[in-house]
Amino acid sequence: MRRSLRSWLGGCLLMSALGLVPPPKNVRMKSVNFKNILQWELPAFPEGTLTFTAQYQSYRKFQDLCTSTAFTECDFSSLSKYGDHTLRVRAEFADEHSDWVNITFCPVDDTMIGPPGMQVEALANSLHLRFLAPKIENEPETWTMRNIYNSWAYNVQYWKNGSDEKWLTTCQYDFEVLRDLEPWTTYCVRVQGFLPERNKTGEWSKPVCEQTANDDTAPSWTVAIVLAASVCAALLLLGCSALLWCLYKRTKHVFSPRNCLPQHLKEMAWPSSRTLVICLVILL
Ligand SMILES: *[C@@H]1O[C@H](CO)[C@@H](O)[C@H](O)[C@H]1NC(C)=O
Ligand SMILES: *[C@@H]1O[C@H](CO)[C@@H](O)[C@H](O)[C@H]1NC(C)=O
Ligand SMILES: *[C@@H]1O[C@H](CO)[C@@H](O)[C@H](O)[C@H]1NC(C)=O
Repeated sequence: MRRSLRSWLGGCLLMSALGLVPPPKNVRMKSVNFKNILQWELPAFPEGTLTFTAQYQSYRKFQDLCTSTAFTECDFSSLSKYGDHTLRVRAEFADEHSDWVNITFCPVDDTMIGPPGMQVEALANSLHLRFLAPKIENEPETWTMRNIYNSWAYNVQYWKNGSDEKWLTTCQYDFEVLRDLEPWTTYCVRVQGFLPERNKTGEWSKPVCEQTANDDTAPSWTVAIVLAASVCAALLLLGCSALLWCLYKRTKHVFSPRNCLPQHLKEMAWPSSRTLVICLVILL
């Protein structure tokens, strides 16, 4: 009786020692711009401090990435961006370990699109926007999320500061101009990456607010140049008409050109062939 109780108790202790290490809880991949962090939570385990081993499958075999780590995450950013990957993690204590917890992960489908960068400049009653596609983890500086996906666009949302009414526009390029805004008004703008083919949106950037200026559509120096050019053209036209008129009159012997031209033009207007050449040159 006593002996059987003891062996039963011993069996229980042995069983618990064998099957006791609980698996990591809430295992998930947090991936933004291909920065892939496998995360999990500590299961309850009063007996001691657990460590963890995380692996990925490569050609049917599992490769260690983090071994016996006390952290509750492991960086899988070195995985290929394409294809499905099987990842797994287990808890370990002394010589014992839990079951593996498996997840599958396809970076190009599953990674989240981080917020793009944005510069906003107010010019008259327009806002000029320049976007910077999010950079990719573990790639050279010039590689952005835009390079990975065939279809890439930006969703731009803007509103008058303090107003609930918001407008949305989608842009293909890294530049956009929001035109015909109200002058002397503060507008706020935010942007997210958007993959039209996948109908997938990214995280919104922080809003950037800028005040528009006056609604002068043509700046004053443009007006001045146009005005000056018109005056010059008119004067030239007038001068040449006068010369031609004088030549015409001269051939009819009604007026001498000496009577209708100012003194400094008299030499130029004579003879008539030279005048014609000058007129042509001026017109050209
Ligand atoms: C995890 O995958 C392994 C094979 O890779 C399998 O033996 C095991 O049962 C799986 N565990 C779960 C919880 O799906
Ligand atoms: C936006 O409006 C709020 C009040 O509605 C004001 O406190 C804030 O300073 C404004 N922001 C900018 C950038 O003008
Ligand atoms: C795209 O996704 C949004 C939700 O994110 C959904 O409301 C919309 O109907 C989808 N459009 C298409 C064409 O699937």
